[in-house]
Amino acid sequence: MKIGVIGYGGMAKALAGKWARKHEVVLSGRNRANAEAAAAATGVKAGEPGEAVAVADVVVLATRHEDVFDAIEGAGGSDAFRDKVVVDINNPISVETFLTTRDDRRSLTQAIADALPGAHVGKAFNMAQVAVWADPDMTYDGRRMVTLYTADDGADATLAELIEDVGAEPLRLGGNEHAYQLEAAAAIVIKLLFAGGDPHTILNLIRPEAKPIR
Ligand SMILES: NC(=O)c1ccc[n+]([C@@H]2O[C@H](COP(=O)([O-])OP(=O)(O)OC[C@H]3O[C@@H](n4cnc5c(N)ncnc54)[C@H](OP(=O)(O)O)[C@@H]3O)[C@@H](O)[C@H]2O)c1
Repeated sequence: MKIGVIGYGGMAKALAGKWARKHEVVLSGRNRANAEAAAAATGVKAGEPGEAVAVADVVVLATRHEDVFDAIEGAGGSDAFRDKVVVDINNPISVETFLTTRDDRRSLTQAIADALPGAHVGKAFNMAQVAVWADPDMTYDGRRMVTLYTADDGADATLAELIEDVGAEPLRLGGNEHAYQLEAAAAIVIKLLFAGGDPHTILNLIRPEAKPIR
């Protein structure tokens, strides 16, 4: 797959570095020199956001949550995302209250899907700290880390593949009407991290069989 990433921060680099083993990845952002440096450090290409989206099958929104809609505009706006799979990794969480910043039980993911009516949208990678995603061996207690995600039907298989490709085990919670639950669950993890928890603090889903339920 061709993967365009908007943002070249910690999460963008951790995920891109893993995906580059199998996919063609372009990192992009507001500052081309910073994008070039991040891409070189990660072993992928750099480009302008508009270029990264134009060539991509999959676009990963990896800015801070406050910047997602600016980033979409900066990459060409809604039309540029038509028919793409869009992965939302962002947590709209206040680090003062450790509550989600959206109060209508609708998620950031749904707001993104509303803004990109021609795209196929899902949410993943939001429930663990960046150090976990950068971990070369995401096996804990002898099992791959179960990674909950939500996706519309057009994004489902792609998100599952991207999760597999970082070394984790995908488990679809449902459509994006469930994404607010992933955001609220991330708030628990973030609260524990801010209280001094180890970066590898994760919610651990125990299942008798370590197989995806699809
Ligand atoms: N860090 C974690 O442990 C973690 C874990 C799971 C999920 N997440 C989520 O992942 C997202 C990214 O987190 P991060 O830790 O990677 O953040 P980060 O290191 O702060 O990186 C954010 C990136 O977004 C870019 N950016 C900001 N506004 C932009 C715009 N309008 N257009 C294009 N690029 C823009 C920034 O570029 P500039 O340098 O130019 O500002 C920077 O490259 C967040 O929403 C966070 O909630 C983070």
